Amino acid sequence: MIELAPGLIYLPDYLARAAQEEMVDDVRAIVRAAPLFTPVMPRTGKAFSVQMTNCGTLGWMSDRDKGYRYEAHHPQTGEAWPAIPASILNVWRTVTDCPASPEACLVNFYTVDARMGLHQDRDEEALDAPVVSISLGGSCLFRFGGAARGGRTKSQRLNSGDVVVIGGPSRLCFHGVDRIYPATSALLAQGGRINLTLRRVRPVQAPD
Ligand code: SIN
Ligand code: FE2
Repeated sequence: MIELAPGLIYLPDYLARAAQEEMVDDVRAIVRAAPLFTPVMPRTGKAFSVQMTNCGTLGWMSDRDKGYRYEAHHPQTGEAWPAIPASILNVWRTVTDCPASPEACLVNFYTVDARMGLHQDRDEEALDAPVVSISLGGSCLFRFGGAARGGRTKSQRLNSGDVVVIGGPSRLCFHGVDRIYPATSALLAQGGRINLTLRRVRPVQAPD
């Protein structure tokens, strides 16, 4: 375990290859039920370069009119999101001491030319709960800074099976993905990278 910054915990090689394969199978089932979609930025309508979907009772999304938010239903199918599989929930239970379960698991799919600009995860009411990030497939260059925009940032390469816990004093840190490294993992036959982020959305004390 490596503390990248206070409360920003890096767990390299957290998942063994077999566990990664099991999780990818679970993600494929999620994508069959809740197809990947391309979100767009609030107001400008500019498309994200990642495709996304969710599992859990709430899913994160963004569109032009209503902006960043959590919704209980897929924007295209209108169906409830599929449940968070045990393989993914187990990571939350093992790496956090949060007494509540996450309601949301955002699935981001990056092709080799996708990026994620620096941002804060702040659409949750439960800012006392961490965000747990799981990397699968191609490696990426993850960038993180402090809680103020424009501050100094550092970079960390994330590989398949790595987990990052974004909590405590780093819960509102700016973070993003500068690049995906091509041909760095054989986990995904079609290449690219999957990132899963688990979030508690409602207050930790709210009943499940
Ligand atoms: C995110 O911040 O939503 C994704 C981070 C990552 O892909 O590692
Ligand atoms: Fe994020």
